[in-house]
Amino acid sequence: MSVHTENTRRVTTHRLLEMKQRGEKISMLTSYDYTMARIVDEAGVDVILVGDSASNVMCGNQTTLPITLDQMIFLGKSVVRGVNRALVVVDMPFGTYQTGDIEAVQNAIKMMKVTHADALKLEGGEEVIDSVKRIIAAGIPIMGHLGLMPQSINKYGSYTVRAKENAEAEKLLRDAKLLQEAGCFALVLEKIPAALAEQVAKELTIPVIGIGAGGGVDGQVLVLHDMIGLTHGFSPRFLRRYADLQTIMHDAIGHYVDDVKSCDFPNEQEQY
Ligand code: KIV
Repeated sequence: MSVHTENTRRVTTHRLLEMKQRGEKISMLTSYDYTMARIVDEAGVDVILVGDSASNVMCGNQTTLPITLDQMIFLGKSVVRGVNRALVVVDMPFGTYQTGDIEAVQNAIKMMKVTHADALKLEGGEEVIDSVKRIIAAGIPIMGHLGLMPQSINKYGSYTVRAKENAEAEKLLRDAKLLQEAGCFALVLEKIPAALAEQVAKELTIPVIGIGAGGGVDGQVLVLHDMIGLTHGFSPRFLRRYADLQTIMHDAIGHYVDDVKSCDFPNEQEQY
């Protein structure tokens, strides 16, 4: 197991660019709270994403659409308090940047002011490019997100692999270049063919971080709760499970219940 405690210098958007330039892969994981963020940061992850997947993972919603600006701000603030080294990126939730660039920049400023995060992420290319430009012009670093965009699930109708057809692949490549030209510091590509993701990573100078996008990109991101086995009933091909914490927690809690029922807990040493 690798715990990169030796490198405590803060990760910046500039350092991510340097990592791409020297061919060092970027590691990114989600976190939604202080306790988890501390563990993830101390284990040496480069980028912590306060993803709107919190809508599913933390709130039990079917999609990412219901989570609100204030809820993302609450989570972002908690995560930032737990992090010393990683770059913290917070997702702009559905409805906070699609209605126009003025509203987008106002929401982005509120998120940055209250959370003290390092950067924000939002989904989409050409359709949201004015908002992206406006937010970056306000001094806020933006990470783009293309391919499968969960906030558009009602448009797609399913969570299947995106950009398998030429027209969608060409639009994705165009959008990736537009986001880079607009000033995005990095791009997430979700669930697209590995060859296309590799091509995007080669054609862009900014780091490209994949989830279900193969190994030819500049870094990888996973949802923490999936990779440590806390979630269940979700096993896409791209997900590698590094632990089965659900079983460990289930057993520990069952043990506690037994000890309480049998009057084994608390014992003499565990009371005053
Ligand atoms: O919300 C999220 O967790 C994400 C990742 C899947 C990239 O956007």
